[in-house]
Amino acid sequence: MSFKNFKCVPKMIFGRGSFADLDKVLGEERKAEEDFVVFLVDDVHQDKPLGGRVPVKAHDLLIYVNVDDEPTTKQVDALTEQVQAFSKNQPVSVVGLGGGSTLDLAKAVSLMLTNPGGSAMYQGWDLIKNPAIHHIGIPTVSGTGAEASRTAVLCGPVRKLGLNSDYTVFDQIIMDSELIAGVPTDQWFYTGMDCYIHCVESLEGTYLNEFAKAFAEKSMDLCREVYIDDHAEKADKLMMASYMGGMSIAYSQVGACHAVSYGLGYVLGYHHGIGNCLAFDVLEEFYPEGVAEFRKMMIKHNIVLPKNICKDLPDETIAKMVAVTKSMGPLWDNVYGEGWEEKVTDEMLTKLFRRI
Ligand SMILES: NC(=O)c1ccc[n+]([C@@H]2O[C@H](COP(=O)([O-])OP(=O)(O)OC[C@H]3O[C@@H](n4cnc5c(N)ncnc54)[C@H](O)[C@@H]3O)[C@@H](O)[C@H]2O)c1
Ligand SMILES: [Fe+2]
Repeated sequence: MSFKNFKCVPKMIFGRGSFADLDKVLGEERKAEEDFVVFLVDDVHQDKPLGGRVPVKAHDLLIYVNVDDEPTTKQVDALTEQVQAFSKNQPVSVVGLGGGSTLDLAKAVSLMLTNPGGSAMYQGWDLIKNPAIHHIGIPTVSGTGAEASRTAVLCGPVRKLGLNSDYTVFDQIIMDSELIAGVPTDQWFYTGMDCYIHCVESLEGTYLNEFAKAFAEKSMDLCREVYIDDHAEKADKLMMASYMGGMSIAYSQVGACHAVSYGLGYVLGYHHGIGNCLAFDVLEEFYPEGVAEFRKMMIKHNIVLPKNICKDLPDETIAKMVAVTKSMGPLWDNVYGEGWEEKVTDEMLTKLFRRI
């Protein structure tokens, strides 16, 4: 096939308070007496009102997951084993309730329950053989677009790479903007900027087409209403921006910021959102208007990024980051188009990293 044949989420609920419909949605999956559901819930919600609202039935398995570190293949394999030890039967649904990390854990566990071997075997593109268990994504922090995408990003033994497949896509998402109310400002900003940056990279990229553009332009407008206008409906707007940013990237590609952020994240452990912000702040030559607007948003929300992180690092640490960043071929192709290999030099990337 020469054109992308993109699978999207078939069922979605949007609206304030819609989390209350989860029980009804699950009711459609529960058919026999012994049917059970697995809930993977970000442990930030434990002992909070939302934790108490999860519609867990007597037979179900609720696991609070910790996402202090971004998801790993090891964590996915351990969770999968925990589900398998819980029952000899498969669950009828796996529900992820949390940010991008938790959504990716739920996607990955639903895949690994039906595909043999460890999850590291499936890091890559279209390596998954069997359909996943029915899985539902419910974001509680907005921006990554993980609710819309066909990947579950995992840190593996060799590299950080997603389980990319049509089976990865959620069967159902619930976008309830009430759930993102308690996110601390820094996190709200970093994850939201992931979305803003998706739009900039998509719109400025060589892979752009009307499909991707339609989503990115609208998503970007929504980001502005959230982060510049401080709109009264900003939670609803950010939730929709995240979904549309994800849809834009699905039919285009990310760019220089994500390439640099992956290098930074892989070697120094920075999480995706803040890593993107750190990278974007030195990319004014690539995205002049986007970076200017991003800085305006930072000032408005009193966001102060850590400074001089890479200035005094040993050369070999920088070289590692440069190597990871350089290996992101499709991202650079989206930035420069044909002949990108000549433009993405060690020297150029080293200079960028030294400024972070
Ligand atoms: N699958 C995809 O398409 C895709 C795309 C981009 C990023 N990602 C992945 O997403 C992850 C980043 O996700 P993220 O930025 O959404 O953050 P996250 O899921 O890592 O969560 C960030 C922090 O916010 C906390 N949190 C979540 N909900 C909260 C709430 N309602 N109130 C208070 N705190 C809350 C979490 O406990 C955590 O401490 C990375 O692992 C990245 O690789 C995936
Ligand atoms: Fe991203």
